[in-house]
Amino acid sequence: MPDITFQRPVFSLKDFPVYGLREICISGRSNVGKSSMINRLAKKHNLAKTSQKPGKTLSLNYYLVDNKFFLVDLPGYGFARIPKSQKMLFKKLVGPYLESRSELIGLIQIIDSRHGPVSGDKLMIDWLREWDGNVLYVFTKSDKLSASRRAQYKKKYEEEFGAENIVMFSANTGLGAKTIWSWIYKTAVLKSSK
Ligand code: GTP
Ligand code: MG
Repeated sequence: MPDITFQRPVFSLKDFPVYGLREICISGRSNVGKSSMINRLAKKHNLAKTSQKPGKTLSLNYYLVDNKFFLVDLPGYGFARIPKSQKMLFKKLVGPYLESRSELIGLIQIIDSRHGPVSGDKLMIDWLREWDGNVLYVFTKSDKLSASRRAQYKKKYEEEFGAENIVMFSANTGLGAKTIWSWIYKTAVLKSSK
């Protein structure tokens, strides 16, 4: 069982950790379930704060895994009701982080399995196709789909992104959590070339 602990929040460019450990970040629309995925992976209910209202995570939150690498929970994008200040935050902090953080070697892109990629996601996916890090597409809230829909959508997402690059996930039931962990370890621990 991986050991995952909250390290600290980062609110500005000068606050980033300087240890040089590798980082894998978690990106997605506000309210899609990024923080809930961290809790499920850690098997802890309240490690990351979650909310029914979008705009809960307002900093880059660093989680240390096995003292070896960081998982970084990002503030979300794209929800009409999130405050303007959060949109600025995305522009000023998350954008530069994604563009130039050299420790960042992987990204987990979370998408609502019921809807597939919506507008903000599409921008992100376009950007990711050009990015040179490792990307895993996690389709979450799949507990809200019937078993037949889940199978049908899984096939569709596999065709679009490649079977090895997608996971059908649920923070509620834990479906897909093991596959996400193996991707994280493969990316963070074994890949030592960067
Ligand atoms: P921001 O921090 O605002 O960007 O949101 P977030 O992406 O971190 O979302 P968060 O984890 O706070 O979850 C938002 C809401 O979705 C909460 O009410 C969660 O309980 C719910 N939720 C998250 N994952 C799942 C899931 O797999 N299934 C179901 N049914 N609900 C989920
Ligand atoms: Mg959050």
